[in-house]
Amino acid sequence: MQQTKIAIIGQGYVGLPLAVEFGKKYPTVGFDINQARIAELREGKDSTLEVEPELLARATQLSFTHELQDIADSTVYIVTVPTPIDSAKRPDLTPLEKASAAIGSVLKKGDTVVYESTVYPGCTEEVCIPILEKTSGLTFNQDFYAGYSPERINPGDKEHRLPSILKVTSGSTPEVADYVDALYSSIITAGTHKAPSIKVAEASKVIENTQRDANIALVNEFAMIFHRLGIDTNDVLEAAGTKWNFLKFKPGLVGGHCIGVDPYYLIQKAQSVGYYPDVLMAARRINDSMDSYVADQVIKLMVRKGINPVQAHVLILGLTFKENCRDLRNTRVVNIVHALQSYNANVDVFDPWVDVAEVQHEYGLTPIEAPEQGAYDAIILAVGHDEFKQLGSRGVRAYGKPAANIVYDVKQVLPRAAIDGRL
Ligand SMILES: NC(=O)c1ccc[n+]([C@@H]2O[C@H](COP(=O)([O-])OP(=O)(O)OC[C@H]3O[C@@H](n4cnc5c(N)ncnc54)[C@H](O)[C@@H]3O)[C@@H](O)[C@H]2O)c1
Repeated sequence: MQQTKIAIIGQGYVGLPLAVEFGKKYPTVGFDINQARIAELREGKDSTLEVEPELLARATQLSFTHELQDIADSTVYIVTVPTPIDSAKRPDLTPLEKASAAIGSVLKKGDTVVYESTVYPGCTEEVCIPILEKTSGLTFNQDFYAGYSPERINPGDKEHRLPSILKVTSGSTPEVADYVDALYSSIITAGTHKAPSIKVAEASKVIENTQRDANIALVNEFAMIFHRLGIDTNDVLEAAGTKWNFLKFKPGLVGGHCIGVDPYYLIQKAQSVGYYPDVLMAARRINDSMDSYVADQVIKLMVRKGINPVQAHVLILGLTFKENCRDLRNTRVVNIVHALQSYNANVDVFDPWVDVAEVQHEYGLTPIEAPEQGAYDAIILAVGHDEFKQLGSRGVRAYGKPAANIVYDVKQVLPRAAIDGRL
């Protein structure tokens, strides 16, 4: 039997950890069109901070390239490119289409292409396979095969790593499904779940994130109701959470690459078959409105304390879309900045995790190097980085002007009695 040689297309948050695990056992090439990314990986550095240099070094059979020819002799191609949405919130399949066309140009008889990118049910077979067939001139399920195995990693989470997260697998024929399942079983210690079809595996991933989105929207709605009723949402959630089947979600901003994006893939697919998913769309609408809700709450609290929001000096602690992670994609904190700026407030953003040049490039904002003590009218703790938790309420409050200031805790990490407001 031919030796398994793996190429992983896309070396980002998902592709690199996967390449590292496969690269411990099989000849593996990490391919990316971003040459700067390939250059840093060749130097043993991962700017996403997902893979430590020691771990990278352990993948002794792993190499990196931006040249398509270097992956031409692979037998398995695994696709981990982004699946974003466009400005009208429609799925943007361009990276997936381009990656499929590139693979098609080097695809050979007997090869298998496995997609990991999050998509809607049907995308692999309706969009990607026809591109592979067209660019390779080969016939699907006769000359080459496909699989889909969604990724479940959680950036910044050092506890749940790729090998310790059970993985769903699937294949385009029963034999290929067995092959794909065995391949992943060889690196995933937590085990695998072989889904009955590619479509089922695709659907399973998109509903995992859509379910989270809807659950968070529900508690965000609770938070807005309870605020009007003068009850603390966290107190209510704590009480309700004592029931065995109450789901423990917290109110918050929904940013990032997955939960705020993936539901749109399912929404669009549902609409294309004549179903308008009201619950999914309402969840998106509620979660997308939470940033302006936070800004409005902060403005109200300032006005109530006699602090004029116009020209007020506001400090926002944290910019990334989640704690202890450098990922800035679709962060909703930027919308809080803009909402406050629309009141003519002067907003400083401080986040020890971010790359300043990346923030400037992506959002046209320049985060400050360090906040000044006693300088701010309002401080918003927007991201629960460990650094901010360690500051505690006193440390956070110390950035406020001694005469009057407000502290708002979006992440509910500070003691309630020590702050002015929280979600
Ligand atoms: N980040 C997560 O936590 C996570 C978790 C589960 C699933 N996913 C899904 O996995 C997929 C990848 O996400 P990510 O976070 O790794 O994205 P990413 O942006 O971190 O990485 C994607 C990489 O693909 C490269 N790329 C883009 N087009 C390419 C092409 N045509 N050929 C080769 N390389 C190309 C980019 O340069 C980038 O390095 C998405 O579908 C995402 O929804 C992400």
